[in-house]
Amino acid sequence: MDFELKTLTLAAARAVRCDLLVLCVGEDFAPGQDALSALAAMALQRGDCKRTPGASLQCYAPPGVTARRVVLLGVGDGGAASVRKAVLALAPLLKSAGVAQLALVFASEAPPQAVGAAVQALSEASYVYTTTKSKPEPRSLKRVVLGVPQARPVRGAFDTAVAVVAGVEFAREWANRPANHATPTLLGEAARSLARLPRVRCKVHGPAQVARLGMGALMAVAQGSSEPLRFIELHYEGAARTQAPVVLVGKGITFDAGGISLKQPAGMDEMKYDMGGAASVLGAFRALAALQPAINVVGLIPSCENLPDGRAVKPGDVVTSLSGQTIEILNTDAEGRLVLCDALAYAARFKPAAVVDMATLTGACVIALGAVRSALFSTDDALAAQLLAAGEAALDPCWRMPLDDAYAEGLKSAYADVANVAGRPAGAVTAAKFLQRFAGKAPWAHLDIAGTAWKTGSAKGATGRPVPLLVHYLLATAAGAGAARTSGARKRTRSAP
Ligand code: BES
Ligand code: MN
Ligand code: ZN
Repeated sequence: MDFELKTLTLAAARAVRCDLLVLCVGEDFAPGQDALSALAAMALQRGDCKRTPGASLQCYAPPGVTARRVVLLGVGDGGAASVRKAVLALAPLLKSAGVAQLALVFASEAPPQAVGAAVQALSEASYVYTTTKSKPEPRSLKRVVLGVPQARPVRGAFDTAVAVVAGVEFAREWANRPANHATPTLLGEAARSLARLPRVRCKVHGPAQVARLGMGALMAVAQGSSEPLRFIELHYEGAARTQAPVVLVGKGITFDAGGISLKQPAGMDEMKYDMGGAASVLGAFRALAALQPAINVVGLIPSCENLPDGRAVKPGDVVTSLSGQTIEILNTDAEGRLVLCDALAYAARFKPAAVVDMATLTGACVIALGAVRSALFSTDDALAAQLLAAGEAALDPCWRMPLDDAYAEGLKSAYADVANVAGRPAGAVTAAKFLQRFAGKAPWAHLDIAGTAWKTGSAKGATGRPVPLLVHYLLATAAGAGAARTSGARKRTRSAP
């Protein structure tokens, strides 16, 4: 989908050629002398058009307006959340066949966050999955012109949102694919395809290399499947080699049947989404390649299937992780933490500035926070604050959860250094406590996205979360690092003789 940002008065919007012109009518909308204003003024006066977010009125274009149809869309206070809600309410229309070219026009001053929200919501509302359909009906919406009173002040937010959309759609595509169309091998190829983009490199480790490295926990999960595992390593090099990277780690279980601790059949198909964390790493790299920020980022994806089999790992088995710590696998369905712990240990070799892992890790997280906020766990207050702020700015929010040591009591094992499960209480927290043991010295955060990475029910499908959060976090980090470099340079100049 193509997005274009334009400075447009309502008088100029009159001449935009498109199938559908959406005019945002917020609380501060004041009609001018043009044809669109006249239409909106009349509809408001007669009560057919409302300013509440999501309220909409479809009309034929009045004389003098080039668009085929016009929708008057209520956007309330005109803030990001209201604009998002309003655009999403148009989803059925945006998915309909007749709308290939769309113009979305802000009649009054558009805050940058609202422009970003509009771009993200237009993508979200018009997305269709087609890959495994024999007669696909592809997305009809091809081109969007975003009209604002002044383009310059919102250009940055617009560019960020367009890159976020590319990342989110990449993540949704891979997470939506059925497990037989998104194997660890295929995920590795998807990562390799990203390495064609500027400043992106990729290395994909197979079973032999992973064995040589000593990733015993990842290997234990993978051994129940005949699909070979992959350990995917992505690099985005946007800053000097000397600058410590941010490491993103994504759980890449392409199907989670639970292993010998087999899951119930109802809804098990949804465990194809258990690589949502991995998809978000791929999506974040897609966005980085588009934005080219001055930062270094490493992406790590431990990927395999979790299946029951004659060779599968068994409850009670003890394995040695890359960190050297031994793990008693009491429940083979707690596999995410096993593949992640080896990736977290591997992350240390990059001497990272920060490590952030994303995982559809626990059903308990869905119970705690539902589909609204991802769970954020961090031992570092500054990193937690950055991720919380990024989530709010990106409309991809998370909520901080505790990491008291008392939560780790249940992970004690008589046969190994640690067990992979504790009891049922606080299941999302005990999973995070397990990961914390492997998280090294760098500031670390864990996002449990079990409730947010996909939607269940009639609207079943991947969301692409937390790509927006990650992109906003990485951009803020790049800007911060840039500022630090400049002030450092200034200091050096001042102290020079
Ligand atoms: N992938 C699941 C977590 C999950 C379950 C995400 C349902 C979204 C919806 C994970 O591997 C898992 O099975 N976790 C277990 C852990 C338990 C055995 C300690 C769970 O949450 O039941
Ligand atoms: Mn599981
Ligand atoms: Zn899982």
